[in-house]
Amino acid sequence: MKSLQTMRAIGLMSGTSMDGIDAALIETNGDEITDFGGSVEIPYDDSFRHQLRGVMGRKAEVDAETLAVTMELTRLHGVAANELVAQSGLKPKDIGVVGFHGQTVFHDPAAGITCQIGDGAELARMTGIRVVNNFRSADVAAGGEGAPLAPVYHVALSRFLERPVAILNIGGVANVTWVSPDGGAVAFDTGPGNALIDDWVRLKTNQMMDVDGQLARRGYVDQGVLDKLLKHSYFDRPYPKSLDRDAFSFAALEDLSPENGAATLAAFTTHAVLKAAQQLPASPLQWLICGGGGIIVC
Ligand SMILES: Nc1ncnc2c1ncn2[C@@H]1O[C@H](COP(=O)(O)OP(=O)(O)O)[C@@H](O)[C@H]1O
Ligand SMILES: [Mg+2]
Repeated sequence: MKSLQTMRAIGLMSGTSMDGIDAALIETNGDEITDFGGSVEIPYDDSFRHQLRGVMGRKAEVDAETLAVTMELTRLHGVAANELVAQSGLKPKDIGVVGFHGQTVFHDPAAGITCQIGDGAELARMTGIRVVNNFRSADVAAGGEGAPLAPVYHVALSRFLERPVAILNIGGVANVTWVSPDGGAVAFDTGPGNALIDDWVRLKTNQMMDVDGQLARRGYVDQGVLDKLLKHSYFDRPYPKSLDRDAFSFAALEDLSPENGAATLAAFTTHAVLKAAQQLPASPLQWLICGGGGIIVC
């Protein structure tokens, strides 16, 4: 495939953790990353996070509440993109494209549905930059799992690394990309990432996350509960496969203390990665671990 002309591109990500917006600037010809630019992180405040949580599971943005959340989400993405452009000493005309992921509120690719809220036209108006959005639903419509960009980015990132390499991104849901020596890729969700731990900690201690694993460190893994959690049919399914944020429940954890629950959920995330590792075509020479939750296992 012929490479495109080199351009600056901004990527905007608001993941299933609902912690905030990550914005990053790269220069690329579509195959290679020719330069890394700056980045900006805009955390959501408690009130907006609460509103966002309230629209999870909805499949269409037709009700007033979802529309209001969509508008605010879009506005905050505009703020993030504009801040990144200004911080980089650039003008909107210097940026070729903004990739706007939006916020996933529902994901069931087997049923042909993935739904991200976010208004691309409004973001283009706010930033003065061409916006590409809704790429996840386009991917699902084409028979994919709805995560078309991460593997392409990971392949480009691993160009000068010894391969096979595995890139593990622990966000709300965790996903892995395995890249073969010739640049072919296999990518899928490994299982839970941080979303379950975040939800557990919020339920038990009203905190947003288990900061630096402090709660989990004080607890013990309940092997019986862990075994139950790992019996989920997802782990035996061959890839390609992907998960909704809320695919797992706390039913098996009912009797656990906050500490033991956090420790068991951290072990659940880790063992799910081990199960995924067993499905990879060949053992990676190295693993790169990233995402907000990467800190938990590194
Ligand atoms: N210091 C920390 N201690 C524990 N967990 C953390 C810490 N920093 C970030 N996280 C976790 O990372 C998550 C955000 O990760 P991120 O990669 O942005 O995920 P997503 O793509 O789903 O938004 C938070 O919700 C939290 O669970
Ligand atoms: Mg995030």
